[in-house]
Amino acid sequence: MELEKRDRVTGRTTTGHEWNGIEELETPIPRVVFFFLGATVLFSLICWVLYPTWPLGSTFTKGVTGFDQRNLVTEQVAKADAERASAWAGKVETMSFAEIEADPALMQPVKEAGRTLFVDNCAVCHGVSATGGPGFPNLTSKSWLWGGEPEAIEETIKVGINSTNDDTRVSQMMAFGRDGVLAPEQISNVVTYVRSLSGAEGDAAKIEAGKEVFAANCVACHGDNAKGSHDVGAPDLTDHFWIYGGDVNSVYTSVYSGRQGHMPHWDARLSPLQVKLLTVYVHTLDGAPQ
Ligand code: HEC
Ligand code: HEC
Repeated sequence: MELEKRDRVTGRTTTGHEWNGIEELETPIPRVVFFFLGATVLFSLICWVLYPTWPLGSTFTKGVTGFDQRNLVTEQVAKADAERASAWAGKVETMSFAEIEADPALMQPVKEAGRTLFVDNCAVCHGVSATGGPGFPNLTSKSWLWGGEPEAIEETIKVGINSTNDDTRVSQMMAFGRDGVLAPEQISNVVTYVRSLSGAEGDAAKIEAGKEVFAANCVACHGDNAKGSHDVGAPDLTDHFWIYGGDVNSVYTSVYSGRQGHMPHWDARLSPLQVKLLTVYVHTLDGAPQ
């Protein structure tokens, strides 16, 4: 048998296949196709080495470059977020409280961030809606202990009240009964008087006697008109807001045993920017003009 057969017309070699006298010419793969195929194989081999490629059970081959599109996307998203945040955060840092509150577009992210910070750090004591509870003041009332100006609120948040901060605000309502300053009868009278200031009914003689006890013992902090003092954090006793309760027993306990509320200081735990955001948030809670 002939090893090589040639087509008579073209002179090319045939594959040896023949159908009804028609022979198949041996046509090599065009060089360009062959090289292209080779190039793609080479390309894929390089990719296997460089990039994440093969699944291996719960993981995959990482490739020597460590390139990962998922990381790339995460980085880009984080960068975009940071740029957006720093744009308004930078403004908040440099602007005054009045300027911030006068800028509605800025107030939107500020309030959102303030609310998140409040829920994370303050809601345990003041409540999610900041309305307080027994022992914890309502921050949505206009009845401020230490003042409702942004500067006063910021200071309270920074240094705390009866806290471990060196500059802490000090809140001291003395224990008039336990320390023997006032007799039970006097306390009972002053309690009746104090409660009458916010409209509670009471015996007129007791109110009159209580008024004298108040003038002699309480005005130094709560003021002649009992409207309180921001200098010593003494609450207004004429409004309907009570920190510890306005019923006879609660007010009696306040006067008999004294009260020393504790508010932690946040200057070490929160950044100045976070304190500022919280200040604006808290300041706008009491319906103060924005
Ligand atoms: C551990 C409980 C606690 C936490 C947490 C707490 N507070 Fe207070 N806060 C208090 C108490 C108690 C008082 C009242 C102290 C007093 O009786 O003088 C107070 C008072 C205040 C006042 C003063 C109110 C006024 O009438 O002058 C402000 C403002 C305030 N808190 C804001 C905050 C903010 C903002 C946070 C979160 C960063 C926060 N507090 C977290 C317990 C807490
Ligand atoms: C040295 C200042 C000082 C004097 C004097 C003082 N108080 Fe107070 N009083 C305070 C402070 C500060 C508070 C708030 C305590 C706190 O929340 O930590 C307070 C709180 C109270 C409360 C609780 C109010 C509430 O919202 O629950 C009552 C009631 C009260 N005082 C009545 C009196 C009466 C009555 C006298 C006089 C017999 C008196 N105080 C004398 C400083 C004083």
